[in-house]
Amino acid sequence: MDKEILLNKILENLEEGVHVVDKKGNTIVYNNAMAELEELSKADVMNKNLMEVMPSLKNESTHLRVLLENKPILNKFQSYFNENGKKISTINSTLPIIIDNKIEGTIEIAKNITKIRELRDKIFDLQGELNEKKKNNRKMCSFRDIIGQSPKINSAKDIAKMASKTSSNVLIIGESGTGKELFAQSIHQHSSRKNKPYIIENCAAIPENLLEGLLFGTKKGSFTGAVDREGLFKQADKGTLVLDEISSMPMNLQTKLLRVLQNGSFRSLGGQREIEVDVRIIAITNKDPLRLIKEEKMREDLFYRLSVINLFVPPLRERKEDIGILTEYFTSQIEQKMLKKIGGISDEVRRFFYSYDWPGNVRELQHLLEGCANIVGEGKQIKMMNLPYYIRGNTDEKEHSELDFIDRRLISKMYNEKVNLAQYLRQIEDEIIKEALEITKGNITKAANILGITRQGLQYKIKK
Ligand SMILES: Nc1ncnc2c1ncn2[C@@H]1O[C@H](COP(=O)(O)OP(=O)(O)OP(=O)(O)O)[C@@H](O)[C@H]1O
Ligand SMILES: [Mg+2]
Repeated sequence: MDKEILLNKILENLEEGVHVVDKKGNTIVYNNAMAELEELSKADVMNKNLMEVMPSLKNESTHLRVLLENKPILNKFQSYFNENGKKISTINSTLPIIIDNKIEGTIEIAKNITKIRELRDKIFDLQGELNEKKKNNRKMCSFRDIIGQSPKINSAKDIAKMASKTSSNVLIIGESGTGKELFAQSIHQHSSRKNKPYIIENCAAIPENLLEGLLFGTKKGSFTGAVDREGLFKQADKGTLVLDEISSMPMNLQTKLLRVLQNGSFRSLGGQREIEVDVRIIAITNKDPLRLIKEEKMREDLFYRLSVINLFVPPLRERKEDIGILTEYFTSQIEQKMLKKIGGISDEVRRFFYSYDWPGNVRELQHLLEGCANIVGEGKQIKMMNLPYYIRGNTDEKEHSELDFIDRRLISKMYNEKVNLAQYLRQIEDEIIKEALEITKGNITKAANILGITRQGLQYKIKK
């Protein structure tokens, strides 16, 4: 196949605009996408000099600048109105073409991000609506809803109660599922700001480049081409703004946040005016902040600003004495929700709960009990066999007849792990083969004898 024809085909089907000029500034490649973006016809540009086609560009032509300075210009944002009056936004990169250490021309690649920007605006709008809805529907938690009597949870609650009496920033640190958000809500609810907005934003859920506009707002006619939009800081004025997963906030935004915390004011994206706000910040992280600082994912000065009050929410494995009361609390919640009576948990399950590490903390316990409640009969006790296989692992609790065990294990496992019968049978087969191989210390012939199948048959299954 002719390489040039192939190259042309590729260029013509690219979504990105491509424009190549030689070292004199004459266009040698100009694809359809670029023609469409720049609203020029290919014939008007091809084989002509840039200055002839766009004389007004003179000092602004990125091609000419790169030819002159031999340095790439990367990710330059451009925005203009096309002849239909529609706002078009592009990101352009212009690179020198170097052959044998000499600059032979430049290539410009333009990405049309109009759609992305439209989507971004939609995200902003939806987020705003969502916050409004949440404001109206949310049942806020208070300290009473944080269940537990262990010294560790009590001391966390004491610190949080003290925090609610002030407007100082709080940094809540704790593993996933420990109840950090519960603490944030409770602090707000017990503070003098309780009748003012409570807004929570997860910094990891929003693409980095959208977060700034979302937090600080955008100004019409700014370089981003955005419309006037209030940011979350403004919406949370006089109230509390919770920044969840703060470590996902890009460093440059952390700098801006630090400035807001210091001055109590900020500028919206593209805005000229300082906007003053009175917002209490609660930042949340499930990672060790000192490690984040070391890894340069968190600014040290921001950490100190945020952690005027440091609230560590302990993991469940360090306060196992709370498991009993949490189990009762969740079971009764589930009973109300499912309109079904549950006969508590068996002694074996209780013992198991105390020996288990709970990597998913309180949330894991809550979900586990809900899963079990779905499969036990009305009024029945939750037993070991009702626990999902992944958590039960190799426990050899024998609190049931063998038949009962197999029968129920099948149903509970299939339910919990969403496996179908064939997958489940294959897993059982795997386990039996492993056991046979363990007994024979890996001797395939002997294991095949135990299982009553041929050596080849077993080998095939092992391979599979
Ligand atoms: N002490 C507690 N008492 C009652 N419910 C709790 C407690 N701790 C956590 N929960 C419940 O566990 C679930 C997880 O809590 P929450 O969302 O506050 O955790 P988180 O620490 O913010 O987790 P993540 O880091 O994953 O966001 C929620 O349903 C919450 O109601
Ligand atoms: Mg959370």
